[in-house]
Amino acid sequence: MIRNSTESYGLVSKLLHSLIAFSIIGLIGLGWWMVGLSYYDAWYHTGLELHRAIGICVLLLASIFVIWKVISPSPGLQKSLKPMEKVGAKVVHIILLLSMFVVPLTGYAISTSSGSGFTFFGLFDIPSIMAITDATRDLAISLHYYIAYGLIAVVLLHAGAAFKHQFIDKKGTLKRMF
Ligand code: HEM
Repeated sequence: MIRNSTESYGLVSKLLHSLIAFSIIGLIGLGWWMVGLSYYDAWYHTGLELHRAIGICVLLLASIFVIWKVISPSPGLQKSLKPMEKVGAKVVHIILLLSMFVVPLTGYAISTSSGSGFTFFGLFDIPSIMAITDATRDLAISLHYYIAYGLIAVVLLHAGAAFKHQFIDKKGTLKRMF
């Protein structure tokens, strides 16, 4: 089943969700690791190049995820959820959706702040749209940092709820998405 049905997610949404989820979790780990490297470490430049290029992939995948949501609407939350659980799930999904865009976009703003672009896996350059002021760059750095690390808590809550509904409440929640 390629499209979403009223009961479950289809192949496209499942694939996009997994790719985005693993990329974001990987990028948080990579980001944390690479900022601890010294300038002379062999991975100092490669780590950052990978982080930027994978971040651009997340931005692309997130755009496709949203376009696909319009073409093939999500199944909607499970009817067996309590009203408060439905509100919580909706709020968390909106935070996750917004973060998929805000974190890569602030990363792009930081990386192109001086007006020059950066390489996409050494294949071609992602150009800078415009140089930004130091104050805007500082704001982008803070947003990138706090939202990325804040996402750890939100993802844990999101995945924790999915596991609880799957294994404790036995509502087959994970099966709908994986
Ligand atoms: C191990 C990590 C994760 C697990 C186990 C997981 C699990 C799930 C499950 C089971 C659903 C479907 C809920 C339902 O049927 O109502 C879902 C939906 C969703 N997940 Fe995740 N997820 C994970 C990570 C992430 C990450 C990292 C993001 C993005 C930053 C994300 C974003 C979303 C969004 C936006 C939806 C709602 C899709 C829609 O609009 O219908 N998830 N997730």
